[in-house]
Amino acid sequence: MHLAAFLIAGNAAHSQVLWRHPDSSPGGFLKLDYYARIARTLERGKFDLLFFADRLAVSTRFGGDHRYGVGHGDQDATRLDPLPILGALAALTSRIGLGATRSTTYSQPYSLAREFATLDHLSAGRAAWNVVTSVNQGEANNFGLRQSLSHDARYDRADEFLDVAHQLWGSWAPEALLLEAGSGRYANADLVSAIAHSGPYFNVRGPLNIPASPQSGPVIIQAGSSQRGQDFAARWSEVVFGIQPDLPRMQRFYQDLKGRAAKFGRKPDDIKVLTAMMPFVGRSRAEAEEKRARHNALVDPIVGLSTLSSHMNVDFSGYALDAPIADLEVAGMQGLFSLIRELSSERQLTLADIGRMYASGVLVPQVAGTAGDIADWMTHIVAQQGADGFVITPVHLPHGFDDFVDLVVPQLQRHGQFRQDYQGDTLRSYLQA
Ligand SMILES: Cc1cc2nc3c(=O)[nH]c(=O)nc-3n(C[C@H](O)[C@H](O)[C@H](O)COP(=O)(O)O)c2cc1C
Repeated sequence: MHLAAFLIAGNAAHSQVLWRHPDSSPGGFLKLDYYARIARTLERGKFDLLFFADRLAVSTRFGGDHRYGVGHGDQDATRLDPLPILGALAALTSRIGLGATRSTTYSQPYSLAREFATLDHLSAGRAAWNVVTSVNQGEANNFGLRQSLSHDARYDRADEFLDVAHQLWGSWAPEALLLEAGSGRYANADLVSAIAHSGPYFNVRGPLNIPASPQSGPVIIQAGSSQRGQDFAARWSEVVFGIQPDLPRMQRFYQDLKGRAAKFGRKPDDIKVLTAMMPFVGRSRAEAEEKRARHNALVDPIVGLSTLSSHMNVDFSGYALDAPIADLEVAGMQGLFSLIRELSSERQLTLADIGRMYASGVLVPQVAGTAGDIADWMTHIVAQQGADGFVITPVHLPHGFDDFVDLVVPQLQRHGQFRQDYQGDTLRSYLQA
């Protein structure tokens, strides 16, 4: 079983009430020791990796400007840049994988290839890149575009971006760097190649100005869930992060994604599917339920709708709260939107219910119980081929992973479901073990 931790370098995770939780340190996200505390806990729990989701704008869709989202603290209200944090965490940890989100729509392959090659060197082979295509108008407006790219154009650009980035990471053969001080031979230039890429979106000569890194490029993570997003994942990803509310949907997503691997010359096992879960660990079931209730009582449905507007690139402020969600074409996260529509008709939800669900944790399943209950639930999901592992999402920070690491991880280890210690030297080797 593989474990990743979901983080945002702000005051939220999937839970958008995280910053209001009485056990959270609300201003901590601006301080390095907050991230150091979290990373050390996760490394103690032998997590494969932690990663930071990201967005390149505050929410401006809901109500047409930033006032609601920033004023009430939705998911996008504040976010530090994750990569400098990972640079610091590379020094403060030694084994855990370190992942950051970067957008293929608003980055250039050359600068991105440098960022992740640098992190991979400094962390001795622990870098991961969560590839996103970005979703909303607010981001477009911060990067000089009047309109965000269409859904399929974003993925076309992303395909070309990944191709260029991989060529750059491969532009230095691992043995090219010589550093022969006596003879004055710095590198074997025959083993360093220009890439001379010319395509619809990018023209990049190369080579990279960084020698081959321990993993020859970061582990690729991806999270799109539309048909086009799943093809992209099957082609490029080593880790796919999904949000599915129940086992049958997890199984469908898992089969569908792994079934696409062969089309791109890959094996199903080359891609690890990790499904998100929000654990509430109690010494008893009653205590776990009490923790869940304490968290969910803080939820403001309008905050959820503000985040939903940002994710879907649709202004939900003008729709009736007591009616079902409208049947819309969305340009944002299409996979998640179809799921919302399905759940709404299955469970007869109003827009306010959806806002409440979204603010409490997007659509991530909440699992409350004793450590044994939670370990059993996870074991069952993996045994039933619903996932290869989990993305654990916190409800308060910086201590929100402590119970999981101290109580659930030992149960999983005792039953042979999870590693006792790291094996291998790089993040990629943990994933393949
Ligand atoms: C579980 C999940 C997590 C995501 N995390 C991010 C993120 O951190 N930042 C971001 O800009 N987009 C994020 N996305 C958006 C996707 O990368 C993708 O751009 C979006 O889902 C549109 O693709 P789709 O229609 O294929 O789902 C996420 C999507 C999903 C489903």
